[in-house]
Amino acid sequence: MSLDQERTTEDMIGRADVNDIEAILAITNTDRDAVISVVEDNSDAIFTWDYKKGARPSLEKLYEKAKHSMWDGEKDLPWETEVDQEQVVLANADMNGGLLEFDPAGTPFAKWTDKEWIQVGIESQNWTLSQFMHGEQGALICTAKIVETVPWIDAKYYAATQVMDEARHVEVFAKYLDTKLSGHYPVNAHLKMLLDDIVNDSRWDMTYLGMQIMVEGLALAAFGFIHQLTTEPLLKKLLRYVMSDEARHVAFGVLSLQEFYEGLSDAEIFERQQFAFEAAVRMRDRFLQQEVWERMGVPVKDALELVMGTPTRQMFQMMLFSKVVPNCKKLGLLDRNDKWLRHRFEEIGVIQFEDWADTASELDGFALLESDIRST
Ligand SMILES: [Fe+2]
Ligand SMILES: [Fe+2]
Repeated sequence: MSLDQERTTEDMIGRADVNDIEAILAITNTDRDAVISVVEDNSDAIFTWDYKKGARPSLEKLYEKAKHSMWDGEKDLPWETEVDQEQVVLANADMNGGLLEFDPAGTPFAKWTDKEWIQVGIESQNWTLSQFMHGEQGALICTAKIVETVPWIDAKYYAATQVMDEARHVEVFAKYLDTKLSGHYPVNAHLKMLLDDIVNDSRWDMTYLGMQIMVEGLALAAFGFIHQLTTEPLLKKLLRYVMSDEARHVAFGVLSLQEFYEGLSDAEIFERQQFAFEAAVRMRDRFLQQEVWERMGVPVKDALELVMGTPTRQMFQMMLFSKVVPNCKKLGLLDRNDKWLRHRFEEIGVIQFEDWADTASELDGFALLESDIRST
């Protein structure tokens, strides 16, 4: 590894201290009313004349599985379910040991009653589902890009099934927001920066690393966490169905990149390690929900400092990485170049997941039963 290729934390993520809350808050979405956003994708579309199906057996297997795992977002979910957001907030609070996220004594929240805390919970649902929807659109665009840019026919076939999956995911999150919740949030600026960086990159494997390994790896963990917590039956089922697809998508990333990374030099791997770290920090920042506190009209920095100190939030922030770290390990990204990425994951406190199951190995545990898919 040549040291002149090492970018500083400031070069990578725009601040020297990954936990600098003021710097995190300085990044906000300034384009809230725009209906479209244009991003350069800088890539060549690649035809292949090698049509031999199954040249990469693990990708072919995934493709065959995907064809039989398509569900229908309109028909397979119980949309007739009535959702009372306030009840959902109270049920979540029961599971979490109370409505208050932290002890408000002596803070700007000392005068808040249950009403304000319930409103935070409702806004938080609107925010969370909105960001899931935006992230799903990012996946839709990235996967369409992979269809064009990946040179292997088995990967083009599989990616095409993922495009359909992601369309379905955008569709069901949008429908849930429109028909069951009470408002949308624009895309979080940290998430959008990351999506733009992924789409901008001209190298086909970077789309996979950014999307399948980092964004979808974090999404799979976040969906799993909320799926376990929520008592709202429609959301629970929606997340279960989406997760069955997401696990396949993350496995697609692991299986594709494993082969490609074996052939890369230390310098090339180092660029991937740095990209993975940058993505990890952006994703961590995106989950802070700064816009919820803004909308509540309270000092955002105070709120975040208090919220970040709570055990539930710390646990959630950490658990987000429970899929990403083992998958990075499986790809050989942790320890190349003097354990560079291992050290970064140690710094942000998530290395303890390294020996958890990687998603290619645990894939079958996420599959739906054929009988779960009413539309087939
Ligand atoms: Fe998705
Ligand atoms: Fe996905």
